[in-house]
Amino acid sequence: MRPIKQRADAAPDKSLWPIICREAAEAAARDPVMGLFLRYFILDRKNLQEALLMRLAERLHYGAIIDKNVLLFSFAAVFARLKQAENLVEADLRAVMERDPATTHFMNILLYYKGFQALQTHRIAHALWQDGRKDFACYLQSRSSAVFQTDIHPAAQIGKAVFLDHATGVVIGETTIIEDNVSLLHEVTLGGTGKSGGDRHPKIRRGALIGAGAKILGNIEIGADSKVAANSVVVKTVPPHVTVAGVPARILSKAEAGAMNLFFIGGDGI
Ligand SMILES: CC(C)(COP(=O)(O)OP(=O)(O)OC[C@H]1O[C@@H](n2cnc3c(N)ncnc32)[C@H](O)[C@@H]1OP(=O)(O)O)[C@@H](O)C(=O)NCCC(=O)NCCS
Repeated sequence: MRPIKQRADAAPDKSLWPIICREAAEAAARDPVMGLFLRYFILDRKNLQEALLMRLAERLHYGAIIDKNVLLFSFAAVFARLKQAENLVEADLRAVMERDPATTHFMNILLYYKGFQALQTHRIAHALWQDGRKDFACYLQSRSSAVFQTDIHPAAQIGKAVFLDHATGVVIGETTIIEDNVSLLHEVTLGGTGKSGGDRHPKIRRGALIGAGAKILGNIEIGADSKVAANSVVVKTVPPHVTVAGVPARILSKAEAGAMNLFFIGGDGI
C-alpha cells in the first residue's frame, strides 16, 4: 500500500527510539499531569524494546492472576530469541505512521494503539506457540482479546509492517497467513466457512487492504495490493491489484499500468 504520509525526521535508516523519547519529553513539558506516566513508560526506559514490553505487561496483567513482572521477564526472554525483534517493532510503528492520516506521534502508537499492541502480543504468543508453549500462548491470546478486543489465534502467521487500524472486533483464525505491508481495519474477520477443518483460513498477500467490517471466509487468497471494501463478504479468491466490494464481493476496479480504472464484472463475480 502506498504511504499516505512520511515524516522527514523518521527516515528508514534512523532509529525511532530517540524520536519517541523526544516526543515524550515534549509532551511531559507541555502537560505536567502526563509527566510521571511518560517517565515510567518511556523516559526512564533504556530502549524501545524495554518500553514496549513494560507497556504490554502493564496492560495485559491488569485484573489477571499472572503477575506483571512474570509477564515482563517472559516477554523479554521471547524477544531475546526473536530474529530482528526490534526491526519488526519499528516496521510496525512506521506502518501505522505512514498509513494512518490521524497519527502524528510514534509515542502514541507505542503507548495507546491497541491494534499495534495486540500485534506485538501476538508476535510473542506466536513464538511461544512455535516453541510448544501452547498453554502460555493461549493465555496471551485470551488476555489480548479481553484487553484489546482483538482475537488472533497464536498459530496465525503475520508478516512485518502490518497495520491493524482501531482493531476492535478483529478476528484472525488459526491457519491464516498475512504477508508484509497488509492493513486491516476494525471488525475484520479472517475466518473459516464452518464447512472444513485443517487449513481453512484466508491468505492475505503483500500490501492488501481489508476495509472495516469485511469478512473473508475460507482458505482463499486476497491478492497482492488488492483492496476489499468495507463490509464486504469475500468467499472466493481475489486476484492481485483489484478492488472488490459487496455481499458477496465482486470486482469493482482493477489497477492497470499504474492507474485505477473502474469496470464492473457482472454475473459470476470473483
Ligand atoms: C472500496 C474502497 C477501497 C474505495 O475503492 P475505490 O476503487 O476508490 O472505489 P470508489 O470510491 O471509486 O467507488 C467505486 C464504487 O464502489 C462503491 N463502493 C465503495 N465502497 C463500497 C463498499 N464498502 N461497499 C459497496 N460499494 C462500495 C462506490 O459507491 C462506487 O459505486 P458507483 O460506481 O456505483 O458509484 C473504499 O470505499 C473502502 O471501502 N475502503 C475501506 C476503508 C475503511 O474501512 N475505512 C474505515 C475507516 S475507520
